[in-house]
Amino acid sequence: MHTIVFTPVRRPPPRSHAPRLLTLPADRRLTQRLPHRAPASGRRPASASPRLPRTPAPRHPSARHPTRIMTSTSAPAPAALSTPRALARLLPFARPVLGRLVLGAVSALIASLLALGIPLVLEIVVQGPIASGDPGQIVWGAVAVLALGLLEAAMVWLRRWFVLAPATAVEYDIRQGFYARLQRLPVAFHDRWQSGQLLSRMMQDISMLRRWLAFGLVLLVVNVLTILVGLVLLFRWHWLLGTIFLICSAPLWYTGYRFEKSYGSLTRQSQDQAGDLATSVEESVHGIRVLKAFGRGKHALQKFTRQAETLRETELRKARAVGLIWFWLVLLPDIAFALCLGAGIYLVQLNQVTVAELVAFFAMATVLRWPMESIGFLFSFMLDARTATDRIFEVFDEENTIVDPDQPAAVTTPRGALVFEGVHFRYQDAAPTERDLLDGVDLALEPGETMALVGLTGSGKTTLTTLPTRLYDVTGGRVTLDGVDVRDLSLKELRTHVGMAFEDATLFSQTVRDNVLLGREDLDPASPEADEVLREALAVAQAGFVDELPDGVDTVIGEEGLSLSGGQRQRLALARAVAARPAVLVLDDPLSALDVDTEALVEDALREVLAGTTALVVAHRPSTVMLADRVALLEQGRVTAVGRHSDLLRESAHYRHVISSLELAERGAGGVAEGHAPDDPGEGDRDPDLRESEVTR
Ligand SMILES: Nc1ncnc2c1ncn2[C@@H]1O[C@H](COP(=O)(O)OP(=O)(O)O)[C@@H](O)[C@H]1O
Ligand SMILES: [Mg+2]
Repeated sequence: MHTIVFTPVRRPPPRSHAPRLLTLPADRRLTQRLPHRAPASGRRPASASPRLPRTPAPRHPSARHPTRIMTSTSAPAPAALSTPRALARLLPFARPVLGRLVLGAVSALIASLLALGIPLVLEIVVQGPIASGDPGQIVWGAVAVLALGLLEAAMVWLRRWFVLAPATAVEYDIRQGFYARLQRLPVAFHDRWQSGQLLSRMMQDISMLRRWLAFGLVLLVVNVLTILVGLVLLFRWHWLLGTIFLICSAPLWYTGYRFEKSYGSLTRQSQDQAGDLATSVEESVHGIRVLKAFGRGKHALQKFTRQAETLRETELRKARAVGLIWFWLVLLPDIAFALCLGAGIYLVQLNQVTVAELVAFFAMATVLRWPMESIGFLFSFMLDARTATDRIFEVFDEENTIVDPDQPAAVTTPRGALVFEGVHFRYQDAAPTERDLLDGVDLALEPGETMALVGLTGSGKTTLTTLPTRLYDVTGGRVTLDGVDVRDLSLKELRTHVGMAFEDATLFSQTVRDNVLLGREDLDPASPEADEVLREALAVAQAGFVDELPDGVDTVIGEEGLSLSGGQRQRLALARAVAARPAVLVLDDPLSALDVDTEALVEDALREVLAGTTALVVAHRPSTVMLADRVALLEQGRVTAVGRHSDLLRESAHYRHVISSLELAERGAGGVAEGHAPDDPGEGDRDPDLRESEVTR
């Protein structure tokens, strides 16, 4: 039985960009560098610098960083690492398959050396059989070249066979690790990071690493070695030819390098724009009802068109850049060849070089052409892989502040005494000048008691409900369950004992059954017991409507439960919390979207369920307050009054004020409760009994 801490489905992918390929000749195809944003751009801006809470709070030993406030500077700056070191961080993932990667590289190297052998055979053939005109010998020369070619092809195949499986294994492992990390990182992390950024890192950056490991890394190593060996052989024939070749190839390297720079930024740009475009689509699909209702469809289309045009222009600029680089990639080697040819003929005339050597030289230069051309791309590919690694490790490096204690305590049979002791809390992006949002909350819930929590909008009620399950950790003070600090319990145990229902009911694209039984890992969903729990929970939550769905409880709910009404979704979320049968139930205004009659039914049913369960219920309606044994009033970050509803009405002016604004909001008087409450009425402003009769209906 867990509290729900899943990443909800309702954060849909901005767009999965299928990896595109440059239109290169088949054997020279290099994967296009994947776009990426600047390392820190994925995080939401955090305004505050790291700072301790205003009130020094007793530190809890098991919370490793109880008061750490993370900002966008909290991840180590990856730029501080050199590229090889940054890439070396992949080693733990690559280690299990390192053997195969090395074998792949060796195969590739052998293939290259075999290719380099062909010019040597040519030299012998031209020098011997062709010069002497012996046809039998020429055939043997041709057979040797053919054999070398066949062996080379076999080695190329072997390279692919060796590297493909390990690279996908590494991709799989990193992706698994990444997802597990996202699940473990606290809510505070998800507050700071855009889901689109996490998604693009998870999908695109990790795929890029696979391609780089399988092709980029292996080819870079092998091609550099091939060029070195080839150059040695060229110089061996004639130093002048070697020098000419080297000088003529320099512009090629330079052009490749320049291309990488400009193309890299263009790709980043296009990726950002594609992300914006995807966000537009996501928002308009999500908000289609609002757009239609307000007749803003045309406006949305115009905005989309503008963004699509910008993206198209960037794509065109990219295509032009690619066209230009290929112009140079073809032209420059040809110029180099022409120069070498001129020089070669001149040297032959001077008897410095034989014709056989010249033929072999050009054959060699042809073999070296592809490795030379590719170096620029492979180098940029490496830089991209480095950026991808940085982007992935930025998430891996995020410190998880909400972790199991080293030696967890246990509450085997919880009674359900939930106590807030001097609790302080502030969000990490709170301005330093602000006081703590929760500024010393003291509140004790007796076992089995139902406590309503009321306060004006923004007073921190929702925030307070996240603390018992450690969705956030207190920044001061402590929360205890049966006298044990919640940070001393394992998260699994804690979330078995404390269940939650949130204000915005998030459902998953699963069946009703799976949604409701989400917290009941212990039950086999097909068992009769599970069925019983499901039925009871649905009954308590007055969610009988599920029987009218096409497949009853086995109906798959649409993404984010969009096909259900708000009230229906809330009832399923409530059923989910009830089905978990926790000792403590924390409900953040679970009935707000229900009509008054349904709410009354749910309340009756809840009263039975809550009889043995300690419950903290945030109430936005006076009728929800009626459910409670006692009411706690949250005001200025503190609980300023606790007691029976009628007593509080009599004693506390602020309570009367809050209740009256709740009532006004409920009656649709407009804009009073939701953050526009009138100034506090003075003590004795109105007759408390009169108020009570209004409230009790
Ligand atoms: N994840 C968050 N990060 C930063 N500030 C937040 C976050 N959630 C809520 N807040 C701020 O904390 C304050 C209290 O919010 P909340 O606990 O939701 O109040 P309530 O439920 O009483 O209306 C608000 O000012 C809100 O803007
Ligand atoms: Mg709230």
